[in-house]
Amino acid sequence: MKLPTLLTMCAITTVSADEPLRKLADAHGIKIGAAVKGRLMSDERYTAVLAREFNAVTPENDLKFERVQPERGKFTFELADGIVAFAEKNGMAVRGHAFVWHRQQPAWIMNGEFSKDEWREILETHIRTVGTRYRGKIVQWDVVNEAIDDQTHGLRESVWLKALGPEYIEIAFRAAHAADPEARLFYNDYSGEGLGKKSDAIYELARDLKARGVPIHGIGLQMHLTEKPPTIGAMRTNMDRLIELGLEVAVTEMDVRLKTPATEAQLAWQAECYRDVLALCMEKKRSGTFVLWGFTDRYSWVPTAFKGTGAALIFDENFSPKPAYQALAGQLRRDESLSKAHPHSP
Ligand code: XIL
Repeated sequence: MKLPTLLTMCAITTVSADEPLRKLADAHGIKIGAAVKGRLMSDERYTAVLAREFNAVTPENDLKFERVQPERGKFTFELADGIVAFAEKNGMAVRGHAFVWHRQQPAWIMNGEFSKDEWREILETHIRTVGTRYRGKIVQWDVVNEAIDDQTHGLRESVWLKALGPEYIEIAFRAAHAADPEARLFYNDYSGEGLGKKSDAIYELARDLKARGVPIHGIGLQMHLTEKPPTIGAMRTNMDRLIELGLEVAVTEMDVRLKTPATEAQLAWQAECYRDVLALCMEKKRSGTFVLWGFTDRYSWVPTAFKGTGAALIFDENFSPKPAYQALAGQLRRDESLSKAHPHSP
C-alpha cells in the first residue's frame, strides 16, 4: 500500500470524508442551498436529506405572487410558513423568491385594469405584506426576477412594465427595503452567467440602479446550465464586474440538465460543472451563496420544462448521491490554506 503523503494525511484529519455538504460549507462561510416545495415538507425522506445536507433553502414556488395573493387582499402563507419554520428549526437561511415576476401571477393581476396609482399601490402592498411577515427571517430576496427580454435585451413587456413603466423596478426595491431593511435585495435572472448581450443588459441595469441609490445589494445568477454552458472564465469576468459595482453575486438556481437517459460520461461531466461553479463562488468573497433548484431528480422542474432532458441535480430519483454530489463535497473539502502552503499539490 502506498503511504499517504503528509498532505493527504492533513486533509483527512482536518475533515472526514463522510461529512454532509452543509458542514463542509460552514467551514468556508458558504451557504449551500436548495429550492424546496412546501407540499413535500411532510415527506420524511425528502426533509431528512434536505436538513442533513443544506444550510439554506429557497421556496421554489410558495412565495410567488399567485401562491401568496391569489385574490386581491387575500394572502395565503401556509406553505411558505412551513418552509420558513423548517428552516428555523434546522438552522438554515432562507432566500425569498420572488416579489416581481412576469410568470406565476394570479388572473386578477394578469387581466387587471387599474389606474397607474392603483397598480403602484397593489405592488407596494404586496411587497410590504409579504416582506414584513418574514422580516428578519428571510436573508435575501429576489425582488425582481427575469425583467430583461431575451430578444431585445431591453425590459420585458410584462404586466408591470405596462402598468408602471421602467420605474416598477425601483418601486419594488424601495418597497422591499422598507419592509425589511436588513434583507439583502437581489435582481435575479437566467442566461446572464457568462458574457454576452443578456449579461451586459443585467450589468447595465444593476449599474444604473446602484448609481441612482436604489437599495439593491446583489445579482442572482440562476445558473440553469445546459450541456453547452458558458466558460468559467467568462463567468469569472462577469462576476468580477458586478462585484466591482459593490454588489454581491449569488448562484440562485443551479441545475445542469442532460439529454436523457444520461450516460456515466455525462454525469461525470456534470459533476465537473457543479464543482467549477462552486469553486468560483469560493474564490469570490462576495459570492458565498450557492443554491440549487431542487436537490433530487425526483422532483426537478427540468423534465417538464425542457422535454428530453433531466438528471439535472445532485441526488438521483431515489435520493442517492450522484457524481455531482461527490464533486461538490470534494471541492468543499479542499483546504485553501493547505493548497497555498503546498503550491505543487493538485
Ligand atoms: C419554476 C419551478 O421550478 C416550477 O415548479 C414552476 O412550475 C415554474 O417555475 N426561473 C425561476 C424559477 O426564477 O422561479 C422557476 O421555477 C425556474 C426558472
